[in-house]
Amino acid sequence: MRRAVIGAGAKQDARKRAFRIGASPGSARARNRLDCTQRGLGKESPDIREEDMDMDIAGLRVLVTAGAGGIGLEIARAFAQEGAKVHVCDVDDEALDALQASDPQISASRTDVTDRKAVAALFDEAIDRLGGLDVLVNNAGIAGPTGRVEEINPEDWDRCLEVCLTSQFNCARLAVPHLRRSENASIINLSSAAGKLGFPLRSPYGAAKWGVIGFTKALAIELGEDGIRVNAVLPGLVAGDRIRRVLEGKAQARGMSYAEVEDQALAGVSLKTMVTARQIADQILFVCSPRGRAISGQSLSVCGDTRLLV
Ligand SMILES: NC(=O)c1ccc[n+]([C@@H]2O[C@H](COP(=O)([O-])OP(=O)(O)OC[C@H]3O[C@@H](n4cnc5c(N)ncnc54)[C@H](O)[C@@H]3O)[C@@H](O)[C@H]2O)c1
Repeated sequence: MRRAVIGAGAKQDARKRAFRIGASPGSARARNRLDCTQRGLGKESPDIREEDMDMDIAGLRVLVTAGAGGIGLEIARAFAQEGAKVHVCDVDDEALDALQASDPQISASRTDVTDRKAVAALFDEAIDRLGGLDVLVNNAGIAGPTGRVEEINPEDWDRCLEVCLTSQFNCARLAVPHLRRSENASIINLSSAAGKLGFPLRSPYGAAKWGVIGFTKALAIELGEDGIRVNAVLPGLVAGDRIRRVLEGKAQARGMSYAEVEDQALAGVSLKTMVTARQIADQILFVCSPRGRAISGQSLSVCGDTRLLV
Protein backbone atom coordinates (compact mmCIF):
# COMPACT_ATOMS: atom_id res chain seq x y z
CA MET A 1 0.00 0.00 0.00
CA ARG A 2 1.22 3.49 -0.64
CA ARG A 3 2.12 5.26 2.55
CA ALA A 4 2.38 9.00 2.59
CA VAL A 5 5.58 10.13 4.29
CA ILE A 6 6.00 13.81 5.01
CA GLY A 7 9.28 15.45 5.94
CA ALA A 8 12.78 14.19 6.57
CA GLY A 9 13.73 11.49 9.03
CA ALA A 10 11.19 9.12 7.53
CA LYS A 11 12.15 5.51 7.25
CA GLN A 12 14.38 5.19 4.20
CA ASP A 13 14.89 1.45 4.17
CA ALA A 14 11.38 0.26 3.44
CA ARG A 15 11.44 -3.22 2.10
CA LYS A 16 11.08 -3.30 -1.66
CA ARG A 17 8.36 -5.68 -2.56
CA ALA A 18 8.06 -7.90 -5.57
CA PHE A 19 4.61 -6.53 -6.20
CA ARG A 20 4.36 -2.80 -5.85
CA ILE A 21 1.34 -0.60 -5.93
CA GLY A 22 1.76 2.51 -7.99
CA ALA A 23 5.04 3.76 -9.35
CA SER A 24 7.38 6.57 -8.43
CA PRO A 25 6.19 9.53 -6.39
CA GLY A 26 6.40 11.59 -9.54
CA SER A 27 4.00 9.38 -11.41
CA ALA A 28 1.62 9.20 -8.44
CA ARG A 29 1.47 12.98 -8.41
CA ALA A 30 1.00 13.00 -12.15
CA ARG A 31 -1.86 10.55 -11.80
CA ASN A 32 -3.49 12.63 -9.11
CA ARG A 33 -3.17 15.71 -11.27
CA LEU A 34 -4.91 13.85 -14.09
CA ASP A 35 -7.63 12.57 -11.78
CA CYS A 36 -8.34 15.94 -10.25
CA THR A 37 -7.21 19.02 -12.09
CA GLN A 38 -7.69 17.80 -15.64
CA ARG A 39 -11.33 17.31 -14.86
CA GLY A 40 -11.53 20.65 -13.10
CA LEU A 41 -12.25 18.82 -9.88
CA GLY A 42 -10.03 20.69 -7.49
CA LYS A 43 -6.39 21.15 -6.62
CA GLU A 44 -3.88 18.34 -6.54
CA SER A 45 -2.67 16.83 -3.27
CA PRO A 46 0.23 18.42 -1.40
CA ASP A 47 3.70 17.22 -2.31
CA ILE A 48 3.98 13.94 -0.46
CA ARG A 49 6.50 11.16 -0.78
CA GLU A 50 5.28 7.63 -0.93
CA GLU A 51 6.89 4.35 -0.10
CA ASP A 52 5.66 0.85 0.42
CA MET A 53 4.18 -0.58 3.57
CA ASP A 54 4.21 -4.33 3.86
CA MET A 55 0.68 -5.36 4.73
CA ASP A 56 1.17 -9.13 4.55
CA ILE A 57 -1.32 -9.43 1.73
CA ALA A 58 0.78 -11.79 -0.36
CA GLY A 59 -1.00 -15.12 -0.66
CA LEU A 60 -4.42 -13.87 0.49
CA ARG A 61 -7.22 -15.46 -1.51
CA VAL A 62 -9.59 -12.78 -2.74
CA LEU A 63 -12.89 -12.80 -4.65
CA VAL A 64 -14.08 -9.49 -6.12
CA THR A 65 -17.53 -9.27 -7.70
CA ALA A 66 -17.92 -7.04 -10.76
CA GLY A 67 -14.14 -6.96 -10.96
CA ALA A 68 -13.59 -6.54 -14.70
CA GLY A 69 -14.32 -2.82 -14.74
CA GLY A 70 -14.55 0.36 -12.68
CA ILE A 71 -13.70 0.27 -8.99
CA GLY A 72 -13.76 -3.55 -8.88
CA LEU A 73 -10.97 -3.80 -11.43
CA GLU A 74 -8.86 -1.35 -9.42
CA ILE A 75 -9.47 -3.40 -6.25
CA ALA A 76 -8.58 -6.66 -8.02
CA ARG A 77 -5.38 -5.20 -9.45
CA ALA A 78 -4.37 -3.65 -6.15
CA PHE A 79 -4.66 -7.00 -4.36
CA ALA A 80 -2.85 -8.80 -7.20
CA GLN A 81 -0.02 -6.26 -7.18
CA GLU A 82 0.46 -7.01 -3.48
CA GLY A 83 0.79 -10.72 -4.26
CA ALA A 84 -2.75 -11.86 -3.43
CA LYS A 85 -4.47 -14.57 -5.47
CA VAL A 86 -7.47 -12.91 -7.07
CA HIS A 87 -10.60 -14.17 -8.80
CA VAL A 88 -13.22 -11.82 -10.21
CA CYS A 89 -16.61 -12.14 -11.83
CA ASP A 90 -18.45 -9.83 -14.15
CA VAL A 91 -21.20 -9.78 -16.78
CA ASP A 92 -19.31 -7.75 -19.36
CA ASP A 93 -17.76 -10.20 -21.84
CA GLU A 94 -15.57 -7.60 -23.52
CA ALA A 95 -14.21 -6.40 -20.20
CA LEU A 96 -13.55 -10.01 -19.12
CA ASP A 97 -11.63 -10.68 -22.34
CA ALA A 98 -9.63 -7.50 -21.89
CA LEU A 99 -8.81 -8.48 -18.31
CA GLN A 100 -7.60 -11.90 -19.38
CA ALA A 101 -5.22 -10.22 -21.81
CA SER A 102 -4.00 -7.43 -19.52
CA ASP A 103 -3.91 -9.26 -16.16
CA PRO A 104 -3.54 -13.00 -16.84
CA GLN A 105 -2.72 -13.69 -13.17
CA ILE A 106 -6.29 -12.70 -12.23
CA SER A 107 -8.75 -15.51 -12.91
CA ALA A 108 -12.33 -14.73 -13.83
CA SER A 109 -15.84 -16.12 -14.28
CA ARG A 110 -18.74 -14.77 -16.27
CA THR A 111 -21.37 -14.42 -13.54
CA ASP A 112 -24.39 -12.25 -12.93
CA VAL A 113 -24.39 -11.91 -9.14
CA THR A 114 -28.18 -11.70 -9.03
CA ASP A 115 -28.46 -15.25 -10.41
CA ARG A 116 -28.12 -17.63 -7.44
CA LYS A 117 -27.35 -20.67 -9.58
CA ALA A 118 -24.62 -18.78 -11.37
CA VAL A 119 -23.25 -17.53 -8.03
CA ALA A 120 -23.03 -21.13 -6.77
CA ALA A 121 -21.02 -22.02 -9.90
CA LEU A 122 -18.85 -18.92 -9.34
CA PHE A 123 -17.97 -20.08 -5.83
CA ASP A 124 -17.11 -23.59 -7.05
CA GLU A 125 -14.77 -22.12 -9.64
CA ALA A 126 -13.27 -19.44 -7.40
CA ILE A 127 -12.58 -21.81 -4.51
CA ASP A 128 -11.06 -24.29 -6.90
CA ARG A 129 -8.77 -21.63 -8.42
CA LEU A 130 -7.86 -19.90 -5.16
CA GLY A 131 -7.67 -22.95 -2.92
CA GLY A 132 -9.95 -21.33 -0.31
CA LEU A 133 -11.11 -17.84 0.55
CA ASP A 134 -9.87 -15.08 2.85
CA VAL A 135 -11.57 -12.00 1.42
CA LEU A 136 -14.90 -11.40 -0.31
CA VAL A 137 -15.38 -7.96 -1.84
CA ASN A 138 -19.06 -7.47 -2.65
CA ASN A 139 -18.46 -4.71 -5.16
CA ALA A 140 -21.21 -5.20 -7.77
CA GLY A 141 -23.66 -2.34 -7.96
CA ILE A 142 -25.55 -0.35 -10.56
CA ALA A 143 -26.65 3.25 -10.50
CA GLY A 144 -30.32 2.39 -10.95
CA PRO A 145 -32.87 4.81 -12.38
CA THR A 146 -32.90 8.59 -11.88
CA GLY A 147 -36.29 10.19 -11.30
CA ARG A 148 -39.00 11.07 -8.84
CA VAL A 149 -40.42 8.07 -7.02
CA GLU A 150 -43.75 8.12 -8.90
CA GLU A 151 -41.89 8.01 -12.22
CA ILE A 152 -39.69 5.04 -11.37
CA ASN A 153 -40.42 1.86 -13.22
CA PRO A 154 -40.97 -0.93 -10.60
CA GLU A 155 -38.77 -3.32 -12.59
CA ASP A 156 -35.94 -0.79 -12.39
CA TRP A 157 -36.46 -0.56 -8.61
CA ASP A 158 -36.28 -4.38 -8.31
CA ARG A 159 -33.16 -4.65 -10.45
CA CYS A 160 -31.32 -1.95 -8.50
CA LEU A 161 -32.08 -3.66 -5.17
CA GLU A 162 -31.11 -7.06 -6.61
CA VAL A 163 -27.73 -5.94 -7.93
CA CYS A 164 -26.78 -3.51 -5.14
CA LEU A 165 -28.09 -5.39 -2.10
CA THR A 166 -29.41 -8.93 -2.67
CA SER A 167 -26.29 -9.91 -4.61
CA GLN A 168 -24.28 -9.28 -1.42
CA PHE A 169 -26.46 -11.80 0.42
CA ASN A 170 -26.12 -14.24 -2.50
CA CYS A 171 -22.33 -14.15 -2.19
CA ALA A 172 -21.89 -13.76 1.57
CA ARG A 173 -23.96 -16.86 2.38
CA LEU A 174 -21.69 -19.00 0.21
CA ALA A 175 -18.49 -17.32 1.35
CA VAL A 176 -18.96 -17.77 5.10
CA PRO A 177 -18.21 -21.53 5.34
CA HIS A 178 -14.91 -20.92 3.53
CA LEU A 179 -14.06 -17.76 5.48
CA ARG A 180 -14.47 -19.68 8.76
CA ARG A 181 -11.42 -21.69 7.75
CA SER A 182 -9.30 -18.59 7.07
CA GLU A 183 -6.78 -17.04 9.47
CA ASN A 184 -7.54 -13.54 8.18
CA ALA A 185 -11.14 -13.48 7.02
CA SER A 186 -13.09 -10.46 5.96
CA ILE A 187 -15.99 -9.27 3.88
CA ILE A 188 -16.17 -5.82 2.33
CA ASN A 189 -19.56 -4.59 1.16
CA LEU A 190 -19.55 -1.62 -1.19
CA SER A 191 -22.07 0.96 -0.06
CA SER A 192 -21.88 4.65 -0.95
CA ALA A 193 -22.13 8.14 0.48
CA ALA A 194 -25.75 7.51 -0.55
CA GLY A 195 -25.79 4.90 2.24
CA LYS A 196 -25.68 7.56 4.92
CA LEU A 197 -27.20 10.63 3.25
CA GLY A 198 -30.49 11.33 1.48
CA PHE A 199 -30.09 11.21 -2.30
CA PRO A 200 -32.92 12.93 -4.21
CA LEU A 201 -34.07 11.34 -7.49
CA ARG A 202 -32.14 8.16 -6.65
CA SER A 203 -34.47 6.45 -4.16
CA PRO A 204 -33.76 2.83 -5.27
CA TYR A 205 -30.00 3.33 -5.06
CA GLY A 206 -30.23 5.16 -1.73
CA ALA A 207 -32.48 2.46 -0.27
CA ALA A 208 -30.14 -0.30 -1.45
CA LYS A 209 -27.01 1.40 -0.13
CA TRP A 210 -28.56 2.10 3.28
CA GLY A 211 -29.57 -1.58 3.23
CA VAL A 212 -25.93 -2.54 2.69
CA ILE A 213 -25.03 -0.80 5.96
CA GLY A 214 -27.70 -2.72 7.85
CA PHE A 215 -26.59 -6.00 6.27
CA THR A 216 -22.98 -5.23 7.20
CA LYS A 217 -23.79 -4.41 10.83
CA ALA A 218 -25.82 -7.61 11.25
CA LEU A 219 -23.12 -9.82 9.71
CA ALA A 220 -20.33 -8.21 11.73
CA ILE A 221 -22.09 -9.26 14.94
CA GLU A 222 -23.11 -12.70 13.66
CA LEU A 223 -19.67 -13.56 12.34
CA GLY A 224 -17.47 -11.86 14.94
CA GLU A 225 -17.13 -15.03 17.00
CA ASP A 226 -15.83 -16.81 13.92
CA GLY A 227 -13.12 -14.18 13.50
CA ILE A 228 -14.69 -12.87 10.28
CA ARG A 229 -14.62 -9.09 9.96
CA VAL A 230 -17.35 -7.37 7.98
CA ASN A 231 -17.12 -3.74 6.90
CA ALA A 232 -18.85 -1.41 4.48
CA VAL A 233 -16.86 0.98 2.31
CA LEU A 234 -18.64 4.15 1.23
CA PRO A 235 -17.18 5.88 -1.83
CA GLY A 236 -18.23 9.42 -2.58
CA LEU A 237 -18.13 10.81 -6.11
CA VAL A 238 -15.62 8.58 -7.88
CA ALA A 239 -14.04 10.13 -10.97
CA GLY A 240 -14.88 8.00 -14.00
CA ASP A 241 -17.50 6.99 -16.54
CA ARG A 242 -20.15 5.97 -14.09
CA ILE A 243 -20.38 9.28 -12.25
CA ARG A 244 -20.43 11.04 -15.60
CA ARG A 245 -23.48 8.98 -16.59
CA VAL A 246 -25.17 9.70 -13.24
CA LEU A 247 -24.57 13.45 -13.49
CA GLU A 248 -25.77 13.46 -17.10
CA GLY A 249 -29.00 11.81 -15.91
CA LYS A 250 -29.46 14.45 -13.21
CA ALA A 251 -28.74 17.28 -15.64
CA GLN A 252 -31.43 15.93 -17.94
CA ALA A 253 -33.95 15.37 -15.12
CA ARG A 254 -33.44 18.92 -13.85
CA GLY A 255 -33.04 20.75 -17.16
CA MET A 256 -29.56 21.92 -16.16
CA SER A 257 -26.17 21.75 -17.87
CA TYR A 258 -23.69 19.02 -16.96
CA ALA A 259 -21.26 21.62 -15.56
CA GLU A 260 -23.94 23.10 -13.30
CA VAL A 261 -24.83 19.69 -11.88
CA GLU A 262 -21.16 18.85 -11.36
CA ASP A 263 -20.58 22.15 -9.52
CA GLN A 264 -23.62 21.46 -7.36
CA ALA A 265 -22.34 17.98 -6.54
CA LEU A 266 -18.86 19.20 -5.54
CA ALA A 267 -20.32 22.02 -3.43
CA GLY A 268 -21.33 19.36 -0.90
CA VAL A 269 -17.81 17.88 -0.71
CA SER A 270 -15.46 19.50 1.85
CA LEU A 271 -12.30 18.61 -0.10
CA LYS A 272 -13.89 19.90 -3.35
CA THR A 273 -12.66 16.94 -5.34
CA MET A 274 -13.86 13.60 -6.56
CA VAL A 275 -12.07 10.55 -5.23
CA THR A 276 -10.27 7.94 -7.29
CA ALA A 277 -10.92 4.22 -7.59
CA ARG A 278 -7.36 3.70 -6.39
CA GLN A 279 -8.14 5.49 -3.13
CA ILE A 280 -11.08 3.13 -2.57
CA ALA A 281 -8.85 0.14 -3.29
CA ASP A 282 -6.17 1.39 -0.87
CA GLN A 283 -8.72 1.59 1.94
CA ILE A 284 -9.99 -1.91 1.22
CA LEU A 285 -6.48 -3.39 1.13
CA PHE A 286 -5.66 -1.98 4.52
CA VAL A 287 -8.90 -3.13 6.15
CA CYS A 288 -8.54 -6.66 4.71
CA SER A 289 -4.89 -6.99 5.65
CA PRO A 290 -3.83 -8.37 9.02
CA ARG A 291 -3.17 -4.74 10.03
CA GLY A 292 -6.90 -4.14 9.88
CA ARG A 293 -7.73 -7.05 12.16
CA ALA A 294 -9.43 -4.90 14.82
CA ILE A 295 -11.77 -3.24 12.33
CA SER A 296 -15.25 -4.72 11.95
CA GLY A 297 -18.83 -3.49 11.74
CA GLN A 298 -17.71 -0.12 10.38
CA SER A 299 -18.95 2.14 7.61
CA LEU A 300 -15.74 3.54 6.18
CA SER A 301 -16.18 6.61 3.99
CA VAL A 302 -13.71 7.49 1.24
CA CYS A 303 -15.44 10.57 -0.03
CA GLY A 304 -13.52 13.80 0.59
CA ASP A 305 -16.05 14.44 3.39
CA THR A 306 -19.22 14.42 1.34
CA ARG A 307 -21.85 16.21 3.43
CA LEU A 308 -24.63 16.57 0.89
CA LEU A 309 -25.78 14.69 -2.20
CA VAL A 310 -27.81 16.69 -4.69
N1 LIG B 1 -18.55 5.22 -9.18
C1 LIG B 1 -19.02 5.90 -8.16
O1 LIG B 1 -19.05 7.15 -8.16
C2 LIG B 1 -19.51 5.17 -6.92
C3 LIG B 1 -19.86 5.93 -5.80
C4 LIG B 1 -20.31 5.28 -4.66
C5 LIG B 1 -20.41 3.89 -4.64
N2 LIG B 1 -20.08 3.18 -5.75
C6 LIG B 1 -20.24 1.71 -5.68
O2 LIG B 1 -19.02 1.07 -6.01
C7 LIG B 1 -19.27 -0.17 -6.67
C8 LIG B 1 -18.55 -0.22 -8.01
O3 LIG B 1 -18.99 0.88 -8.79
P1 LIG B 1 -18.39 1.24 -10.22
O4 LIG B 1 -18.46 2.72 -10.33
O5 LIG B 1 -17.09 0.57 -10.43
O6 LIG B 1 -19.50 0.60 -11.17
P2 LIG B 1 -19.51 0.42 -12.77
O7 LIG B 1 -20.84 0.90 -13.25
O8 LIG B 1 -18.29 1.03 -13.35
O9 LIG B 1 -19.55 -1.17 -12.96
C9 LIG B 1 -18.47 -1.98 -12.62
C10 LIG B 1 -18.68 -3.39 -13.15
O10 LIG B 1 -19.90 -4.00 -12.63
C11 LIG B 1 -20.28 -4.99 -13.58
N3 LIG B 1 -21.64 -5.47 -13.28
C12 LIG B 1 -22.79 -4.77 -13.39
N4 LIG B 1 -23.84 -5.55 -13.05
C13 LIG B 1 -23.33 -6.75 -12.69
C14 LIG B 1 -23.92 -7.98 -12.25
N5 LIG B 1 -25.24 -8.11 -12.10
N6 LIG B 1 -23.11 -9.03 -11.97
C15 LIG B 1 -21.78 -8.92 -12.13
N7 LIG B 1 -21.17 -7.79 -12.55
C16 LIG B 1 -21.93 -6.71 -12.83
C17 LIG B 1 -20.14 -4.22 -14.87
O11 LIG B 1 -20.09 -5.08 -15.98
C18 LIG B 1 -18.83 -3.46 -14.67
O12 LIG B 1 -17.71 -4.16 -15.17
C19 LIG B 1 -20.81 -0.26 -6.81
O13 LIG B 1 -21.33 -1.02 -5.74
C20 LIG B 1 -21.23 1.19 -6.70
O14 LIG B 1 -22.56 1.34 -6.28
C21 LIG B 1 -19.62 3.79 -6.90
